[in-house]
Amino acid sequence: MQQLLSQMTQEEKIGQLCQVSGAEGYVPDHIRHAIQSGQVGSVINEVHKETINELQRIAIEESRLGIPLLVGRDVIHGFKTIFPIPLGQAASWNPEIIEQGAKVAAKEASMAGVNWTFAPMIDISRDPRWGRIAESLGEDPYLCAELGSAMVKGFQGDYLYGESIAACAKHFVGYGAAESGKDYCATNIPPNELRNVHMVPFKAASENKVATFMSSFSDIDGVPASGNKWLFDQVLRKDWQFEGFVVSDWESISQLTIHGLTENLKGAAWKAFDAGIDMEMVSTGYRDHLSELLQEHDEDDTRLNQMVERILTTKFQLGLFDQPTLECPGIFEQLPEAHLQAAKQAAVESCVLLQNRDDVLPLNKNLSKIAVIGPLADDGYEQLGTWIFDGEERHSQSILSAVQSSVSEQTQVEFHRAMNTSRSHEVQNMDALTESVSNADVAILVLGEEAILSGEAHCRAELGLPGCQEQLIEQLRQTDTQLVLVILAGRPLTLEPVLNNVDAVLYAWHPGSMGGPAVADLLFGDANPSGKLPVTFPRKVGQIPIYYSQKLSGKPVNEHNFVHIDDIPVRAAQTSLGMASNHLDVHFTPQFQFGFGLSYSQFSYQNLQLSTKQIDVDGTLVVSVDVHNTSNRTGVEVVQLYIHDRVASLTRPPKELKGFQRVSIGPGQTQTVTFNIDKRHLGFYIADGTYLCEPGIFSIGIGSSSNPELWNEFELIKTP
Ligand code: BGC
Repeated sequence: MQQLLSQMTQEEKIGQLCQVSGAEGYVPDHIRHAIQSGQVGSVINEVHKETINELQRIAIEESRLGIPLLVGRDVIHGFKTIFPIPLGQAASWNPEIIEQGAKVAAKEASMAGVNWTFAPMIDISRDPRWGRIAESLGEDPYLCAELGSAMVKGFQGDYLYGESIAACAKHFVGYGAAESGKDYCATNIPPNELRNVHMVPFKAASENKVATFMSSFSDIDGVPASGNKWLFDQVLRKDWQFEGFVVSDWESISQLTIHGLTENLKGAAWKAFDAGIDMEMVSTGYRDHLSELLQEHDEDDTRLNQMVERILTTKFQLGLFDQPTLECPGIFEQLPEAHLQAAKQAAVESCVLLQNRDDVLPLNKNLSKIAVIGPLADDGYEQLGTWIFDGEERHSQSILSAVQSSVSEQTQVEFHRAMNTSRSHEVQNMDALTESVSNADVAILVLGEEAILSGEAHCRAELGLPGCQEQLIEQLRQTDTQLVLVILAGRPLTLEPVLNNVDAVLYAWHPGSMGGPAVADLLFGDANPSGKLPVTFPRKVGQIPIYYSQKLSGKPVNEHNFVHIDDIPVRAAQTSLGMASNHLDVHFTPQFQFGFGLSYSQFSYQNLQLSTKQIDVDGTLVVSVDVHNTSNRTGVEVVQLYIHDRVASLTRPPKELKGFQRVSIGPGQTQTVTFNIDKRHLGFYIADGTYLCEPGIFSIGIGSSSNPELWNEFELIKTP
């Protein structure tokens, strides 16, 4: 490495810091020349096998030092085999299934010559208006840290070469807190929250050796991330000792000027370099100005060398220097069955059963007639969701086709699209539709959001079912037929207006290539729902931000002091009612709380035991609980553990997830589930990054959602 570095001219070093956008399918002359003259370290957005092979050949054979390229691509939830959107995968609460999905994606992407993905996105997302919530792992730092680290492991494997690709923890940091849930907006995050919420999954990714970090687009307290020295130089490098390299987001260095942090691209390039952004994605500040800037700032090559070294190290780790040529084999025409099955299992585990009145689900496969209704029931493209650059509709199996092949030969399945798209304002053939549903034993309505309504820059101010879906449901409710609503969506939607009009609700997010078979297995009971919400579902948009770990305030609301607008006497005196922290026009609880999800089995919780009532800060508390499956079906329960540090020098949330386990329990069986709790779970960060574990009483809750069934308490002590 040192030898290579010592041979490099300053121009070649700067070249390694530059990422260019490919032309998708051919090598344009300007890229060819730039690579030949050592001015490119990485190419983004090129996945054609021949083109990638040619790009690498030019780099290796025609540039002076023959340094291969990093080939980056947004492989977010699968490459060819598409897994559920990340928010859906997070609903599995299953690190193994997430690791497996990333492993499959890495294998497929590496076959196409991609060696670096821009995932996982581990931005804490507490605003469902924000389109990129779809790409996130939800609202909770602990869950996001666990699942994000599993995704890193899946992409990177034990070593970076072979079928592994480099991962990227993005977007450092706070991007998900964009004001009003509008993409790219400024964020206002106090230091305490930054450290204890938004940074947590990133710290975990760094500890788990993620190869790269990406800077966020957002403005953090006046300094946009890509020019934020404190963030990268102090926190990431000095405090966390991160050894990989940092890439900017797409043109986020040139955008420092639009933000108003710098006057021009040259100034932006200096800010980013000084902050420690090692590679510039697409904009050309480094290429055009860095050499001159180093001179002007009287700076030798020390920092530049460090940056180049980090990038070259990743290339070495990926094994790019080990082969004389980098011919990738190209991706298979038919997807391997094992990949499809992994995607199906991920989709099964990610669906969340939100409502199941009178046990309408699971359905009988021998019914005489099933009506399948809705624009998303037979649309292999829309079920894939956002960020699927390389996924293809032809590999998708739709819900309609899966229902058709699940039922008995005698069962008639009648399909009506009902609306042209999920956004249409008109129902097609309402009369025929109503008749079809009236004559059916059950109607499966597949509604929600088409893929383009979530993702980057696709934010919404209203979160109801789009178009005329609510009216469609209302109309079909007039029949006597039971209605099962399957929702495909990239975010939590406000479902209050429709919940009374349907019997069951299965939330399938955008479930990916194998969404159809997964949903059908759940509807007909070949699989038992086990997904739990990784994010709170509001009743109304006005409740946002609403998340389970919201601080108590000095006047917490409860059933006794809550006042609803309809209960206020005319001309009531200002102080005569409530005086609690709530809205008047919506119940203070969410529609569905974080961690919630039903199963066809029922579980009861008993016997919450603590190994001791007092633990020392260096000790371990063993917590156990008996989970009993009271039903006659095997089911998987996600057992969740929450803590509350009751009094601290900084107020703490009344509930914080600190452990979870997925357990499969047979009918009538009881399983004892055990958690070990220690100081890693009991402390918090203060603004300068110091981790404090303060003595005092803690509550501990265990249950099947963020409203735990059982609570107990213990004392944390510090022996002198
Ligand atoms: C996104 C990143 C993504 C990059 C490259 C940006 O617009 O914010 O998450 O990795 O584009 O496609």
